[in-house]
Amino acid sequence: APYPLALCVTADDFAAAAKEVLPEKAWVYVSSSAASGLSLKANLDDWSRINFRPRIMRSVSAIDTRRAILGQPGQFPFFVSAMGTLGNAHPGAEPLLARGSTRKGLHMVVSTATSKPLEEIMDAHRDEQRLLGNQSPSRLAFQLYMPVDRSKAKSLIQRVKAAGYHSLWITVDTSILGKRTADRYLQAQELLEQGARERELAAENEFGPAFGGRPVPGYLDPGLSWEDLAWIKQEWSGPIVLKGLQTVEDVKIAVEHGVQGVLLSNHGGRQIHSAPSALMTLLEIRNYYPEALEKLEIYVDGGLRDGADALKALCLGATAVGVGRPYFYAMAAYGMEGIEKCTDVLAEEVEITMKMLGVSSLDQLKPEMVNATRLLNE
Ligand code: FNR
Repeated sequence: APYPLALCVTADDFAAAAKEVLPEKAWVYVSSSAASGLSLKANLDDWSRINFRPRIMRSVSAIDTRRAILGQPGQFPFFVSAMGTLGNAHPGAEPLLARGSTRKGLHMVVSTATSKPLEEIMDAHRDEQRLLGNQSPSRLAFQLYMPVDRSKAKSLIQRVKAAGYHSLWITVDTSILGKRTADRYLQAQELLEQGARERELAAENEFGPAFGGRPVPGYLDPGLSWEDLAWIKQEWSGPIVLKGLQTVEDVKIAVEHGVQGVLLSNHGGRQIHSAPSALMTLLEIRNYYPEALEKLEIYVDGGLRDGADALKALCLGATAVGVGRPYFYAMAAYGMEGIEKCTDVLAEEVEITMKMLGVSSLDQLKPEMVNATRLLNE
């Protein structure tokens, strides 16, 4: 029998449920990480190296969990991070996730590597907003993998603009796809079993899994540099977020280039081996370039599996926290119900923790409400 939805009490439980229903290849692709898994482990572990410093008797009978991203209102301090291959999770793919997140008032970042056209995803979002009687502007952001071919890049950016995505999140940690160990074993196993003809096909499709099984030649531009940003800015003209920064030095350069936000991320531990967790990078910024906190919005993602932990990042100055795999798993196992339940689980954890921490709105979160010395000293 499939894992019952009622037993999904934490965000982690959706992984167990998804493992039961996903084909092996899809399970391996979403759950895998770079090399020996150190980057992913750091993401998961570092949240628990920070403790809260809860305050008492601060009247928390009414609490407000709302948090805007780039001026667009949202219900929670977490959002759905960009994920490709959502068609492998559920036939409803990105439009379904857009509907679920919109219903819950969540921001969602739509990947370049979608299985449905970006316009169709926006239609689903707007339709859901209409059903809710919600007049607010779009909560969908678009994640850009910059195509090598600039004419392709231009037309993609124009489509994103015309569709009404509110901001462009450029992924900058993917000059090449990371070495995903579990995928390599599975591929090698298949090749051993299938023989030469399939081997040729697989070689042609090297980046296939990242693009919904389709080969997308010319993506993942290893030549991308800071100079390209001026060109992108001209084409886009709206808010820009750089996704995948891992050092305070690069955050400084991002500020100099006038972007509106940075997402500190190691791509869910899927790209470089031995990456810093986003929390480590956030602490670097606090230590060496705290002015950044006033100059742009800082988001983090990677390994968030308890809504309470999102509050730790906010105490340290983050605007919001992205969540990836739990939404993939929840959608794979239970479709719309899963997306909603995953949100409810994280939201409840945010609410009960705010109350016990002694804050009634997210603006009250301050650095002195956490102790991060273990993360810095270990
Ligand atoms: C990703 N991620 C990602 N990032 C991106 O910029 N573009 C993309 O297309 C994808 N695709 C993608 C697919 C899958 C299956 C996963 C798991 C991840 C990375 C993603 O945006 C995010 O950084 C991490 O998923 C966050 O870590 P957690 O929450 O999954 O631990």
